Amino acid sequence: MALRVAVAGLGPMGRGIARVFAESGASVTVVDLDAATTAAGHEKMLADGPVDVSTSDSVADAVRDADLFVEAIVERFEPKRALLAQVRAAGNDKLVVASNTSSLSIGELGVAYGDPTRVLGMHFFNPPTKMRLVEVIRGARTDPEIVARAREWVEGLGKTAVLCADSPNFVVNRVCRPLYYESQLLVTQGMTPAVVDAAVKSALGHRMGPLELLDFTGLHTHLGSSETALREFGDPRYRPIPLTRQLVRAGTTGRAAGRGYYDYSQGKPREAQVAVLREPRPSDARVQVYRAVGCTPEDVMAVRDLGKSGRVVVDSSDGAWREHLPPGAGWLRLHGGFAEVVADEVARIEPAYDAVDALGVTSVPVLALPGLVVDRLAHTMANEALTVVEEGTAGAGDVDLALRLGMNHPVGPLEYLASVGARDVLTSLRGMLDGFGDPRYRPAQLLVRQAAGSRG
Ligand SMILES: NC(=O)c1ccc[n+]([C@@H]2O[C@H](COP(=O)([O-])OP(=O)(O)OC[C@H]3O[C@@H](n4cnc5c(N)ncnc54)[C@H](O)[C@@H]3O)[C@@H](O)[C@H]2O)c1
Repeated sequence: MALRVAVAGLGPMGRGIARVFAESGASVTVVDLDAATTAAGHEKMLADGPVDVSTSDSVADAVRDADLFVEAIVERFEPKRALLAQVRAAGNDKLVVASNTSSLSIGELGVAYGDPTRVLGMHFFNPPTKMRLVEVIRGARTDPEIVARAREWVEGLGKTAVLCADSPNFVVNRVCRPLYYESQLLVTQGMTPAVVDAAVKSALGHRMGPLELLDFTGLHTHLGSSETALREFGDPRYRPIPLTRQLVRAGTTGRAAGRGYYDYSQGKPREAQVAVLREPRPSDARVQVYRAVGCTPEDVMAVRDLGKSGRVVVDSSDGAWREHLPPGAGWLRLHGGFAEVVADEVARIEPAYDAVDALGVTSVPVLALPGLVVDRLAHTMANEALTVVEEGTAGAGDVDLALRLGMNHPVGPLEYLASVGARDVLTSLRGMLDGFGDPRYRPAQLLVRQAAGSRG
């Protein structure tokens, strides 16, 4: 017999979830607040394309013979609690109850339902019809057999399930916290959104820059999840960026509002990003590149020595170079065919454009800040990913899979960490911790242990 699914809430998420179940052959009933909003939601579903779902005027009727109930109503605890109580009162003891919540506790929803063993999270990504990832969240008391069944149903949709524990922000949104915080902090420290986004896209292959993405999601939504993270973890590293709050209060919440980090009346973010990239010019010049993960006295000496026999550039993101760069040396950070070039009038560092021409790489000018742009974002994300593994929220393979599918990142944060090496990432984080004096850069104990285990 076909799987019987009831979906409550016909916003964009509920409509998409109902559609993917219906298209996989399940028998689907949808319900919204009342008969009128249910009919309106159903109409919207049909406007998106033909779909075979039934409507119901009462959630109790919808769930009475269902195998699975998915709630995708407004993101507030009280309405969800009241709805779950109605579902429970329908008396279907075999029902599996899933919530699509992005931020509420699955354990608390389980208690609200009255039987936490049967409640889990099924966190679809927007739009559910296109995004392959579903985070399947087990509450502390969810029956493992229910989790296994939910996973099978998700896979039956042709989607990939990533298992995680009931932890604030789950996996994707949690691992991306530093991506969002650091990119906004860079703006408060003097960089433009276009430069930050162009650097991240060029060096890491992300489809959207972090600030463009924040504008797309809505800064109010991001602020809400930051406040949740700070409250739930009680760790100052998750505190929201003051600039986010200012922008939200001013009503400049992102793309839908016409303005956020970008002003959409001035064109597309992509145009602004392309405009800050510098293409290399033909050059016969010779340049020596000195790669330094940190900035030790030996590194400084070596750069000084190399400088005696010609032009030298340091390839590093360590902020200490702003005080120790020998006269005549340039400073950049190479990422394959792309470079961040330090260009900082205040720190009196001239951009080494001759070097990027000699190397034939596209570049973007960045300020002399610890970690520059790319390493700062990539290394703090890798650190967050390790924290998620260390605390048991998700396994390493699942974390990478989640970021590849949920964010379209070409490599997962832990694969990236493995390619760079734990020691280098640890050195980089310690440089940022020293340079900024902020617990945001505190290395995960698992990273310190991995680095110790990989010493030569
Ligand atoms: N929008 C996203 O990108 C996204 C992504 C992942 C998860 N989520 C989560 O999915 C859920 C729904 O998101 P959305 O953006 O579709 O929400 P939405 O607020 O746009 O739509 C919610 C729908 O639920 C209906 N509703 C409200 N109370 C109800 C009740 N008691 N019974 C039945 N229906 C009721 C509303 O009428 C509305 O149609 C939220 O929990 C949200 O956090 C959203």
